[in-house]
Amino acid sequence: MAFLADSLKRIKPSATLAVTDKARALKQAGRDVIGLGAGEPDFDTPDNIKQAAIKAIERGETKYTAVDGMPELKAAIVRKFKRENGLDYQPNQITVGTGGKQVLYNALMATLNPGDEVVIPAPYWVSYPEMVALAGGTPVEVATTMESGFKMGPEALDRAITPKTKWLILNSPSNPTGAAYTRDELKALTDVLLKHEHVWVLTDDMYEHLVYDDFIFTTPAQVEPKLYDRTLTLNGVSKAYCMTGWRIGFAGGPVELIKAIATIQSQSTSNPCSISQWASVEALDGPKDFIPKHNKVFKERRDLIVGMLNQAKGIHCPKPERAFYVFPSCAGTLGKTAPSGKKIESDQDFVTELLEAEGVAVVQGSAFGLGPAFRISYATATAALQTAGERIQRFCGNLK
Ligand SMILES: Cc1ncc(COP(=O)(O)O)c(C=O)c1O
Repeated sequence: MAFLADSLKRIKPSATLAVTDKARALKQAGRDVIGLGAGEPDFDTPDNIKQAAIKAIERGETKYTAVDGMPELKAAIVRKFKRENGLDYQPNQITVGTGGKQVLYNALMATLNPGDEVVIPAPYWVSYPEMVALAGGTPVEVATTMESGFKMGPEALDRAITPKTKWLILNSPSNPTGAAYTRDELKALTDVLLKHEHVWVLTDDMYEHLVYDDFIFTTPAQVEPKLYDRTLTLNGVSKAYCMTGWRIGFAGGPVELIKAIATIQSQSTSNPCSISQWASVEALDGPKDFIPKHNKVFKERRDLIVGMLNQAKGIHCPKPERAFYVFPSCAGTLGKTAPSGKKIESDQDFVTELLEAEGVAVVQGSAFGLGPAFRISYATATAALQTAGERIQRFCGNLK
């Protein structure tokens, strides 16, 4: 339709939200559907956080706040970065948005000119290349492999950088693979960035607290302090604090960039929800004992689903140590015929037929830049996950 802007031609809707919507519609139509598409913890927001929000409402904290976050929340974020990441930021180096998603979007809008390149290791979170394109930039994907643990090495990063590169977007632990860089692996990447002074790093640390086994989380500005002046450290409360619906994300970075982000926010959405901001102060400053408890459950679920997937015919699933996703290959199912009579020629076909035949909603790997594979979010009730695993095994066993 000629009325719509050309920028829409550069992007496609989020595949993860599309799967979630389809699963919801099938459920409403009476189908028995297990949704493993959405990347959100099934645990409820902890009670102390809810109470902080209720008290904020009762105190009348229901007005506009400072555009990019109220001082009390910025102070809590400054404490968080110091305590958990060893990073020193001043309040004027902090921005708060309506989810990490908005902060990321504003940062790209604030910095990209037409032709600017952004290096994105694949598989990636679906929104990175689309946001880059929407902001007028050019996403430059760097493919990784299952064999390399879905991690980008320093040589591949070096090769991807050109004089037009503005950002590297790093996401560790990763959505969709659960891969995470160790301190040494991160140092190898930051060493490359030291050679290229025009490249900034946008590190998406959203899954920082979702690490199992003995993994120690680190972030680029901590590993290489010389990069501090060209790093935007992005984080939020959605995943670790079970607050996806509250919509609070934040970042620390150089003052000039933080100001530019605030300018964009001031002319678009203004401040994030005042009540959610008060809840986030409690999340960041309050007790965190539920995090290891949740992680223990996530780890058990990961072991369950990885074991079940590896027993499904044609599926191969590596075991990630972080986040709440697995990213198995479905290469062994290609060329086979589904119960509907349709031949499976791609991971898109695989997920469509799986949903049709067995009512299990997963997302095709190609949406994240690497196929044939699919992503499962195991942040769902253990019993449902067990049933989903059985259905996937049955579906794969029935392929002819
Ligand atoms: C890698 C990654 N970054 C950022 C976000 C955005 O999180 P939010 O906008 O809920 O803070 C998500 C959510 O799915 C994510 O997976």
